[in-house]
Formats: sequence, C-alpha cells, structure tokens
Amino acid sequence: MGNYFNRHRRLRTNASMRALVRETYLHAEDLIYPFFVVEGENKKEEIASMPGVYQLSLDNVHKEMEEVVRLGIKSVIVFGVPNEKDEKGSQAYCDTGITQRTISQIKESFPELVVIADTCLCQYTNHGHCGVVENGQVLNDESLELLARTAVSQAKAGADIIAPSNMMDGFVSAIRHGLDEAGFIDVPIMSYAVKYASAYYGPFRDAAHSSPQFGDRKTYQMDPANREEALREAQSDLEEGADFLIVKPALAYLDIIRDVKNNFNVPIVAYNVSGEYSMIKAAAQNGWVDEKAIVMETLIGMKRAGVDLILTYHAKDVARWLKED
Ligand code: PBG
Ligand code: ZN
Repeated sequence: MGNYFNRHRRLRTNASMRALVRETYLHAEDLIYPFFVVEGENKKEEIASMPGVYQLSLDNVHKEMEEVVRLGIKSVIVFGVPNEKDEKGSQAYCDTGITQRTISQIKESFPELVVIADTCLCQYTNHGHCGVVENGQVLNDESLELLARTAVSQAKAGADIIAPSNMMDGFVSAIRHGLDEAGFIDVPIMSYAVKYASAYYGPFRDAAHSSPQFGDRKTYQMDPANREEALREAQSDLEEGADFLIVKPALAYLDIIRDVKNNFNVPIVAYNVSGEYSMIKAAAQNGWVDEKAIVMETLIGMKRAGVDLILTYHAKDVARWLKED
C-alpha cells in the first residue's frame, strides 16, 4: 500500500475518543495512605522535608481518618513514632505502644477502614536499625522472634494487614507462624519483599526518627543495581506465605514492578516513597511543575508498570482530584 501510514492520531481526536481507548486507570480504591503518629496531645507538626505531611498525636487521628474515609480511600498504614527507644525496640511489641493504641482506636471508630501495620524495629531501637544489633552487626535470626512478636501484638490491636519492612531473611515465615499460633490465620501479610537500600527514604527518616545511628542498611536492603535478585526476594516471600508483594521505592524501579507483575500473580503494591513525594512537592512549591498533573502522571505510570495498589503520601490529594474530574 504505497503511501499509506498508520494514523495513530485518529484515536486521540477528542477526550471521549481518548477515554474509549484508555488502557490504565487510577481509582481511590488503589490508594493506601501512610501517616505518622507521635505520643502526646494536641500535636500536628508538619515534617519539614515533607510539606503537607504531619506527625499527629492520637487525639488528632480521628479527624484525619474521617477525611480519608470521606475521600473514598479504603486503606491506611500506620507509622508509630515512640518516645522511648531501647536496644531491642521493646515499644514495637508492647501491647500499649503508640502503634497498637492507634490501630485499636481507628478500628473502633472506622471498622471498615483497612488498617495496615508497618512491622519493623527501626523507629523503636536506639541504634535505628531494623533488627537486633550485636558488635555492630544486624543479626538475622535473633531479630525474627521480635518481629513475630511485633506482628502478633499489632494483630491483637486489630490490624487488618501486617506489612513487615525489615528485610531480614525468613521474616515472612516467622511472622506467619507467629500469627497462626496466636490465632490470626486470617490476617494477611503484605511483604516489603523487594526493598532497595535507597536514598529516597531520607525524608521518612526525619518523620519517623528512624535513621540508623551507625552504618547503613546495605547488609539487609537490596542493591539498586540488581534486578534478578528482586525475583528471588519475591519468590521466597511468596513461598513463606506472603499475600501481597511491595516493591519499594517505585519511580526508579518501574522495571522491577513489571518484572514482579509478570512473574507472580498476587496483588503488587508500589511504595511511592518519601523522597519521591518531596521532590515533586519542592518543585511544585517553586512553581516549576504543575503538581496535580505531575502526580497523576507519576501514579498512572506505576499502574501501567503493573501495580495493583499504590502506597503514597499523595493519596488524599489524588482522591480529591479524582472526585473533581
Ligand atoms: C522502615 C521503613 C522505611 C520506610 C518505610 N518503612 C525506611 C527505611 O527503611 O529506612 C521508608 C518509607 C518512605 O521513605 O516513605 N523500615
Ligand atoms: Zn526498619
């Protein structure tokens, strides 16, 4: 056919035509909203490196959850920031710890809201590492028991999903056994299976006071250069009983999201992390980018890469924008 060429623009002629051929959607139901809770009363402090994100005291959580529910968001993830830290992170598995109290308070008022507990030790340990430390080393197997105790205590408080983020080997298996023995066979595990040692976590560590006091997390979190290793991490977590897989961070790892999606058929979650949020916020505040357009494009990119759910600090804004359109 001599002079013929494909006229792709035929399918882009107007908004209705574009809607007809759109392949990917973002819904409020896809979003998981993370928030930080501190001890004390009447606190609402903005995190300097995360404009629009606050550390709330428990008395301010109810209002925040009302807003989340009103916006159509179905799920939140709790990051408790305790006052007391010690060598073994004992506030993490204390039944009256800040995270546990937050979970039970939310479940009492909003039984329908899916409350996810982040299960790790770094906010709770004085050394800021995600496991037990001895002679400057983060010990694997010694950490597992404490993680399982933390998960059970969070489930007792009413957590609907346990999300372990510590990257010790065998943590899914240890937590699954712990939950099952305590009678929580129906509580799913959303594993931070593929978690890279990333500079994008910087602002989160300001918010959660969870920076390592020595060294870094490179002996347990993954090397950003590795792709095949991500599949091994995902596979072992599934074998150990994970129900969801998280890939984290998201933006610099969209290829990994697609690989995980293509290889495993469980719900995949992208964690659109703090540094990704802060970069957009900073540029938007300077008037350099259009915040709404940039955020929507970024999140649709994650959906297109293959995720089912997105854990994002933009969640409330996105839910609001989705209602507007
Ligand atoms: C704790 C944890 C981290 C994040 C979530 N859970 C930080 C870390 O591993 O240092 C990062 C989230 C973010 O940057 O938004 N293990
Ligand atoms: Zn941690």
